[in-house]
Amino acid sequence: MDYLCDMNLKNITIALAATLFVAACAPKSDMDKYIADLMSRMTLEQKIGQLNLHSAPGFISAIRVTEEDENVKLLRAGQLGGLYGTGNTEYIRDIQQIALESGAGIPLIIGMDVIHGFQTVFPVPLALSTSWNMDLVEQTARIAATEATAAGINWVFSPMVDICRDARWGRIVEGGGEDPYLGGELAKAYVRGYQGTDGVYDDHDVMVCVKHYALYGGAEAGRDYNSVFLSRQEALNGYMRPYQQAAYAGAASYMSSFNEFEGIPASMNKYLMDDLLRKEWGFDGFIVSDATAIAEEVNHGIGDLPEVSARSLQAGLDMDMNSDGYVGTLQKSLAEGRVTEADIDKACRRILEAKYKLGLFENPFKYLDATRSVKEIYTPEHLAFARKAAQESMVLLKNNGVLPLSKNLRIAVVGPLAQNAAAMAGAWSMSAHNDECVTPLQGISEVARVTSAEGSWLFKDKELEESVRYGLYKIFMPGYQAPDIHTVPQERLIAEAVAKARQADVVVACVGEIETLNGEGASRTDISIPDAQKELLKALKATGKPIVMLLVTGRPLTLTWEDTEMDAILNVWSPGSEGGHAIADVLFGDVNPSAKLTTSFPRNVGQLPLYYNHKNTGRPHPDDKPYQKFVSCYIDEINAPLYPFGYGLSYTTYSYSPVTLSASEMPMDGSVTASVTVTNTGSRSGDEIVQLYIHDVYATSTRPVKELKGFRKVHLEPGASTQVEFTLTKEELSYYNHDLQWVCEPGDFEIMVGPNCRDTEGATLRVQ
Ligand code: NOJ
Repeated sequence: MDYLCDMNLKNITIALAATLFVAACAPKSDMDKYIADLMSRMTLEQKIGQLNLHSAPGFISAIRVTEEDENVKLLRAGQLGGLYGTGNTEYIRDIQQIALESGAGIPLIIGMDVIHGFQTVFPVPLALSTSWNMDLVEQTARIAATEATAAGINWVFSPMVDICRDARWGRIVEGGGEDPYLGGELAKAYVRGYQGTDGVYDDHDVMVCVKHYALYGGAEAGRDYNSVFLSRQEALNGYMRPYQQAAYAGAASYMSSFNEFEGIPASMNKYLMDDLLRKEWGFDGFIVSDATAIAEEVNHGIGDLPEVSARSLQAGLDMDMNSDGYVGTLQKSLAEGRVTEADIDKACRRILEAKYKLGLFENPFKYLDATRSVKEIYTPEHLAFARKAAQESMVLLKNNGVLPLSKNLRIAVVGPLAQNAAAMAGAWSMSAHNDECVTPLQGISEVARVTSAEGSWLFKDKELEESVRYGLYKIFMPGYQAPDIHTVPQERLIAEAVAKARQADVVVACVGEIETLNGEGASRTDISIPDAQKELLKALKATGKPIVMLLVTGRPLTLTWEDTEMDAILNVWSPGSEGGHAIADVLFGDVNPSAKLTTSFPRNVGQLPLYYNHKNTGRPHPDDKPYQKFVSCYIDEINAPLYPFGYGLSYTTYSYSPVTLSASEMPMDGSVTASVTVTNTGSRSGDEIVQLYIHDVYATSTRPVKELKGFRKVHLEPGASTQVEFTLTKEELSYYNHDLQWVCEPGDFEIMVGPNCRDTEGATLRVQ
């Protein structure tokens, strides 16, 4: 039977809903009327049920709906408002049907961690940010939205916009790096890509969930879930802009974070949710907790589950992910006067409004068009875009001239990540075709003569390697049998690789982090290339052959030895479905690398947290000068990072003219243009990312030594020049002062332009 007919026959609720439905673009009062009417027919239990979000069983594994399913039981009792964690379209369709037949017949919102693509995977978000190409980022989100909605998903737990200054934190991979301005631009691009730009959700648009609100990336010592200690002023200036810009761009929902801020867990933090996000930034969507974050407030030492649930609701948290705090305690808390019915109604209304805007009341199966799931997922066009995204996201960190490679060379492709497809997919690729990702070996073999060898284990410690590689599977797939590892001795692996290297003209060594060595719950205190792989690099070095190191990683690593000893380092990150092809494109020069870092690469883990937009201190010391007593520096290392923010090489070179300002003085309400001429001084065409920084020389509060306030990516043929202009107004020169007011203070500003944050030249602008 035709599916739609079947659906209509079965479901009287849909017919009822359809008669009441008013189009999503209709005035708010129509939506208000619809929801008020619906809520007048809901019981208290059903309202609280809307505040409950659960994960699908098994999370990753293939599943079918049965009456034993915990979520089905909850639905039948009117106690579930949303479900997340499966891209299994049949499951979603079946459970949506049950939702319509149960309780108030309200469709479920269906969420999923679609982080950097759905089945087609793009480079991990940190990598994508290094493209500095907002159209590209937007397009990756658009494709992800197309694929996710074709599978039945209407809500994605993305973008992750947490600023991070500490590479020990594994989740640095999920965000856009250390800069709040760039982070804000990225946040807007993701929101546009996922939700579309016309304010109406058609069946290819998906609701975003901006996370993790707020300041999760400030986890002390880079240890996941750890406390955050930031002043409100530093939070606003250094971290909040991406969350704020997402709200201004119309983000429909937010996810509260695990950490505390000012002694109050974020998921019950009224200042963050109600005062700042809603009242100050005008956000009118709903906020969901992170998974079990409400229950975790008990561990934070705030109270028992009824207490923390009541306080979270009152602070403005609408939906409870996986804690069962709301469904389990709110009815009783209401009876005891700890919460009011108005508190519950407010949260329920916000969730129903989201469902209304998505069009789920009009057609609960809007995102379950079976024809789309075959035609619009993992298509050749999407894969071609994944290749382009990967090409633009690879950062050339070092090159002594060995790159680009000639296709006539005999190449030894070695290293444990050379044939690892899942490492290409990267963290959070649970719906992807991980095994089909193009590996470096595959990509390179398609264009050149290649020999290969695994080369080494990942880690010398077998237990550690086992837990890094298979720990996640063991948690989510009960009974999972991990394969045996370290079956071939490390010495033999190295000997094989060295033998292949000796026969070759050049070695491509593929090393770094597999997809589980970064991401959630993957903090490291040692962020170097893991020991077993480092041993391989040393043995390869001893052959005297030129070595190109392909760095697979989700975070900045400490690479001082590699920077000295390797002939070239190409940071390919986890580049996604088409990684291997894009790697070959860049290695052989069919594509000229253009990406630039959005996080500082430290020399040494002891430098962390490390970020370019730091304050000056009263006893500053030049970044590149050695130790000196009684100034702000280290005995055993200089202050400078190994590779600074904004850094990345190309196969061509660029020169920058001095910066000129259209005027040396700017009235407070005026504007000034800063210009530079950039010239391609090499022999290949290329794309250069031109960056504008400011420094507020004297202010009523201390200000960073440099702050990014603009960037352009320009294409230049060999010998060609272009003038790049940036307009500055008081907006770019403002900051949150000690009283938390957004102000531009009169006085001098240095306006600097350059190819990275270190190599800038500037002019002085007086604002009055
Ligand atoms: C926990 C993670 O912190 C969050 O990013 C994710 O969206 C949820 N789990 C749901 O999977």
